[in-house]
Amino acid sequence: MTDAKPATKIPDPCSFVIFGVTGDLAHRLVIPALYNLAATHLLPEKFCVVGVARGTMSNEELRDDMMKGLKQFATRPVDDAIAQRLLECVTFIEADPKEPASFDKMREDLDKLEARRETTGNRLFYMATPPSAFAPIARQLGRTGMLKENGSWRRLVVEKPFGTDLESAKALNVELLSIVEEKQIYRIDHYLGKETVQNILVLRFANGMFEPFWNRNHIDHVQITVDEKLGVGHRGSFYDATGALRDMVPNHLFQLLSLVAMEPPAKFEAHAVRSEKAEVLGAISIQTEAEALQNSVRGQYLGGKIGDTEIEDYLKSKDVKPDSTIETYAALKLTIDNWRWAGVPFYLRTGKALGIKRTEVAIKFKQAPFAMFRDTAVEKLSQNYLVIGVEPTEGIALQFNTKIPGPSIQIDGVEMKFRYKDYFKAEPSTGYETLIYDCMIGDNILFQRADGVEAGWRAVQPFLDAWKKAGSDGLKNYEAGSEGPVEAEELMTRDGRSWRKLS
Ligand code: BG6
Repeated sequence: MTDAKPATKIPDPCSFVIFGVTGDLAHRLVIPALYNLAATHLLPEKFCVVGVARGTMSNEELRDDMMKGLKQFATRPVDDAIAQRLLECVTFIEADPKEPASFDKMREDLDKLEARRETTGNRLFYMATPPSAFAPIARQLGRTGMLKENGSWRRLVVEKPFGTDLESAKALNVELLSIVEEKQIYRIDHYLGKETVQNILVLRFANGMFEPFWNRNHIDHVQITVDEKLGVGHRGSFYDATGALRDMVPNHLFQLLSLVAMEPPAKFEAHAVRSEKAEVLGAISIQTEAEALQNSVRGQYLGGKIGDTEIEDYLKSKDVKPDSTIETYAALKLTIDNWRWAGVPFYLRTGKALGIKRTEVAIKFKQAPFAMFRDTAVEKLSQNYLVIGVEPTEGIALQFNTKIPGPSIQIDGVEMKFRYKDYFKAEPSTGYETLIYDCMIGDNILFQRADGVEAGWRAVQPFLDAWKKAGSDGLKNYEAGSEGPVEAEELMTRDGRSWRKLS
């Protein structure tokens, strides 16, 4: 381990404009992340935060509301002096895309504020709103000229979900690209703010030893798991219109998949990296609806107990239709049609109300080809996995076989582990700090480009269509606190494989 750290660039003076400032996302993630950036001296000296929402609110009221949110969701003890310094930069502006005049007024207010704060006209507009507001807000910002770059930069941060299917994602891209250029758009996927997710690139491309094995000659298959313990909680109305597949796969799971499967980019810069990611997502085989049904399992949770917490049936959750056929669990088998991955299945699974919270990518290597050790047949050897742990333990583990000490040759599987927290001291973060910081310094390497988003939706569209048509046919139940529907195991066993046991 070396101590060398590159010098960190401080962002240009700017205004950070948050639409939906009183909402859940702003409270939970955006404001705590801004606080963490302030605490680590990564905000510019000349800086202001503009909170935008419908309805009136004084600056003081907004500051109190932010402080309350910060106390609740901060990832580290809040230092009042730092929080106060940040809150002093906060101003409330009322704007509602349904009332275009409010955006004309916003423009004037913003100009005056920026003159006072000397932020030189650089602006970051963060849309922490429901997705239905993305296009209307962008239209108003465009109409009033607030996104025009005139010697200063203007950026638009778009949260997920980016569309609800291929068609709507394309339409949103067309709309946004009629207002701003691609380089001004930052489509956030919070998975890309996670250290281990970014580390996949470093693991693969800063080490010479993995690349020779990283292909169909040595890899049997890849498993990507994002299991959650939480049920839908208070998000019933969003979730029941969305489901596990839309909520997680074309975005979070595909980010993991693309980093694992992409070709080495020629340079570590946004265009090259994003092109390779889009390329590999575009190479996912597009299944027919019949194939999609065969290569997938979807489930919905029944009540149960997770630890000490009782979870009620999904169908009894607040704002969920009592006859909903929305899935809370999805498992898919995908293939990638290219030279590196031909014949290597990628199995993806994600679900809510499961017995364990675990996010990982497990790369399963091919078995040793020949049973040289008399007492241990090849199929008895434990499996060789390289496991990239994202949550709860961030790190990398390699599983391999070793000799049990003693006179005879007996073999057992062991694990060699690297855990981030053993090597690096880092304060807990929201995962948004890196992303927000990157937006401010203009580095969009970690953000999705239009073609990448569309390629993701294209690959899941047959599953969405097939499941919609099938309705309740084929929707499996699983008990809260379990590992998901048993049929998900069959998706693997029929290929002579099994999911890695999570513990
Ligand atoms: C969000 C989904 O994007 O990601 C949630 O909308 C999900 O349903 C969350 O719970 C998972 O994120 P993480 O970081 O906890 O794995």
